[in-house]
Amino acid sequence: MECVWVIILFLHWSLSGAQRFDLEGGGSVAAPGSDVTLPCSLKPRMSAVDMEVKWTRQDPGDKLVHHYKNKQDQTDKLDPSYINRTSLFIEKLQQGNTSLLLKKVQVSDGGLYRCRVDSDQWKDSVNVQLRIEATGGTPEISVLGTGVSGGVLLQCESRGWWPVPDLQWLNSEGAKLPAGVKESCEDVGGFYVRRSLTAHKSNTNTYICRVKLGEVKKEEQIDITDHLPKPDNTAAIAVSVTLILLSALVCVVVYFIRRDKLRKWLKEKQTADMCLKGEGEPRLHGVNFTDAQWKYVEHTLLTSEEVLEVFDLRKYDPSEECFLKLQKVVYACRKAQLSYCDLTEKSCDVLASVLRSNSRLRELDLSQNILWNSGVKKLCSGLESSDCKLEKLSLSNCSIREEGCAALCSALKKNPSHLRELNLDSNNPRDSGVKQLSDLLEDPHCKLEKLHLSYCMITKEGCDDLCSALKNNPSSHMRVLNLHNNKSVDSRLEKLSALLEYPHCKLEILDLTDCSITQEGCVALCSALKKNPSHLRELNLNHNKPGDSGVKQLSDLLEDPHCKLEKLDLSGCSITEQGCAALCSALKKNPAHLRELNLNNNKPGDSGVKQLSALLEDPHCTLEKLDLSSCSITEEGCAALCSALKKNPSSHLRELNLNNNKPGDSGVKQLSDLLEDQNYKLEKLELSKCSIREEGFDALCSALKKNPSHLRELNLNHNKPGDSGVKQLSALLEDPHCKLEKLDTLKCFSPLYSLSWCSITEEGCVALCSALKKNTSSHPRELNLDYNKSGLKTC
Ligand SMILES: *[C@@H]1O[C@H](CO)[C@@H](O)[C@H](O)[C@H]1NC(C)=O
Repeated sequence: MECVWVIILFLHWSLSGAQRFDLEGGGSVAAPGSDVTLPCSLKPRMSAVDMEVKWTRQDPGDKLVHHYKNKQDQTDKLDPSYINRTSLFIEKLQQGNTSLLLKKVQVSDGGLYRCRVDSDQWKDSVNVQLRIEATGGTPEISVLGTGVSGGVLLQCESRGWWPVPDLQWLNSEGAKLPAGVKESCEDVGGFYVRRSLTAHKSNTNTYICRVKLGEVKKEEQIDITDHLPKPDNTAAIAVSVTLILLSALVCVVVYFIRRDKLRKWLKEKQTADMCLKGEGEPRLHGVNFTDAQWKYVEHTLLTSEEVLEVFDLRKYDPSEECFLKLQKVVYACRKAQLSYCDLTEKSCDVLASVLRSNSRLRELDLSQNILWNSGVKKLCSGLESSDCKLEKLSLSNCSIREEGCAALCSALKKNPSHLRELNLDSNNPRDSGVKQLSDLLEDPHCKLEKLHLSYCMITKEGCDDLCSALKNNPSSHMRVLNLHNNKSVDSRLEKLSALLEYPHCKLEILDLTDCSITQEGCVALCSALKKNPSHLRELNLNHNKPGDSGVKQLSDLLEDPHCKLEKLDLSGCSITEQGCAALCSALKKNPAHLRELNLNNNKPGDSGVKQLSALLEDPHCTLEKLDLSSCSITEEGCAALCSALKKNPSSHLRELNLNNNKPGDSGVKQLSDLLEDQNYKLEKLELSKCSIREEGFDALCSALKKNPSHLRELNLNHNKPGDSGVKQLSALLEDPHCKLEKLDTLKCFSPLYSLSWCSITEEGCVALCSALKKNTSSHPRELNLDYNKSGLKTC
């Protein structure tokens, strides 16, 4: 009988094993206007017809590009700029090919994409980079005429490049010639470039024009013999005289050449200086520097104290080319910020030798570069060196998988005593990679204090390994554990709870956002924390499902005088009136620690808000930040909050977020009364999407006029001030006592909403701008006027 079970188990295991797959991606290059395939396919080959395929754009933002599910393309939530431009190769899905066809490529499409495939049993994702590049035509050379000094004036031009290519004039031996300024402009289908040259008689009379973009070169040459001015006959007679004069001339020429060289260098130096001190960033993007200019830039950076503290490559040019030119700076700086720089293995080689060289480098941020396992392995040859004293390493979203993670861990095991913080967010270490990481954490020499593993698809097994390892290492230094968005960690949290109740566990920050934690898990977690409550300072449980009994346990924990929690995030946890009441009464019994409470997007109801008000009325309550956005707060709830705060003049509350509620006119009036009260020291107030109308604006502005000295930030987006409301705001901003620094207002008309949202006319906008201009002296100000009817974005 037992034998049969073993066989069934084996069959089950091998069947589900067969469903596992890896995704393979790659990179693509496309010209503007063309169609391109972004590669992504399953390995081993299996049908993806029944799977879910999601293509998203990683930078900027997280835009949905294409979505295939239930054997159909899904069109809702697609980013508008991709609609009707994408498709999968439906007939290829059968072979596991989930590549995306993107049509009519635009310049703005260039960037990082992510292909994600979910089957019932397995999922994986891979990044795919799309580069926009167009190769133009062979250059054309034309003769424009005879130059002043008897040379021939040539012009070389070429069309259809993207981005702007390099354009050089060369002599027949291939040496670069000093030529005119390179001119370029954007044309249909790419850039047009041209450059002129005054060519003189030479041995071969041949000149070459070369256009170059990356590895692509296009050349054209011209023989100028026929275009040279005819030699003058009388000149022959003068030859002897010329010879005599020549020696004298040589001296003069040498003098001038030297002077010209110096002048040229001074000019180059000036250009480099101008780029370095430029306003915009990246400052060195697209420059065409000589080696001497690069040396000069490097030298300048190496003498800047600021750069030696933090070298941020993105300020100069976020590219591997620039990194390689400026690599000496990395040897000398304390922190290297290299995220989003398109770095590859090549840079990892350089960084490894920096790390081996006993350099000053202590913090390295390589996040958002596609390094793959191979790049990380190169980096490891530096990390394992005893000369490497790195304290902080960020490798988030670097396409690292189990092999890369294993290499990283074994390198760190050889040199465990320096690294304090490791960020591996958004990689895919798989269970075996997490196992290696656990071995590292179990090592008593490991000094890691902060570990970030969000979006790593960690399973129950992985999470259990991590927790047992931490528990088995009583000298563990771990203080911050981030498991944000790992949806398959054990919903019951057995091992994590066992770790938390263990007296040696000194975790201070625990982030379990969006981990599919159930009521059972939350109860286990809280009862473990009750046994060892004195270390945790910050707990993020948002977007889980604690249920009423989970919230009840949490309340019991908060009530414990040994619990010193300062920050609690419970947004989107479906907390009801009952749950909110339990939390508040617990906090009333132990009010002296919590500083930040986030209840956004829950359902406290009027009675829950009343309980919260009672808490805020308590002079012992230390709450500084309270987020109640999207909590369906009514006039009644708002009135309760305000009157509670009015009764507690020593309230610590500095930031209040009431976005997306329904305070109504009377609620806004109550809030205004509160703002008018000198005792009350609110610094930041958010009231976006609260349906505030003219009356509400009047009340708020007149309150702020009477008590202008506390509020720094006010968010009034998506309301309806009308012209009179705008005038009130203008008058307020003109007041020299008003301390408002950021007025994120008046996004009262968004193109996404109907025209009736519009409420600021040109008149209103002009009034606001002139008010700001009259009072620029006292405080730096930010004013956001996006999306208003007048179209005046800036003043
Ligand atoms: C997937 O299909 C596309 C379109 O036919 C093709 O270009 C690509 O090479 C295929 N990929 C693989 C891995 O077969």
